[in-house]
Amino acid sequence: MADSFDDFVKDLQNQIFDETRTAYGEVAFQRWLKPLYNGEMNDADGYGRVTGTCGDTMEIFLKLDDDLVKDATFRTDGCGSSSICGSFAAELALGKSPDEVAEISGETILNTLGGLPEEDRHCAFLAAETLQAALHDFMMKERNKK
Ligand code: FES
Repeated sequence: MADSFDDFVKDLQNQIFDETRTAYGEVAFQRWLKPLYNGEMNDADGYGRVTGTCGDTMEIFLKLDDDLVKDATFRTDGCGSSSICGSFAAELALGKSPDEVAEISGETILNTLGGLPEEDRHCAFLAAETLQAALHDFMMKERNKK
């Protein structure tokens, strides 16, 4: 039994961390703790925004230079898994050409983070769909420049 309220809170937090790590695996757990590439980008070359059937919305911002993704960020109002998946979608796009980004799927994201519980797998597909929407936006802008 905890000695004080602080100990109680600490025990509770550790319990939540242990349960999350067990359910999601170490790679996804670490990204849940620190969702890299989270944020808005004002001068994005490509922008995607998709609302999934779950009602959560994901946004992805891409900045390209020399036909390679130089910067990528995401934003979501969704669950913890959608943050993890958005973060990996952005990370996977970094340094890639448009053709290579086009290859990134929900399965790619799931494989990278070591899988997700069945009920959260759709979050990876929402992230991939949003990434493809951002890529499509970039391609359309490039085509209109010609
Ligand atoms: Fe909707 Fe995760 S539950 S994106």
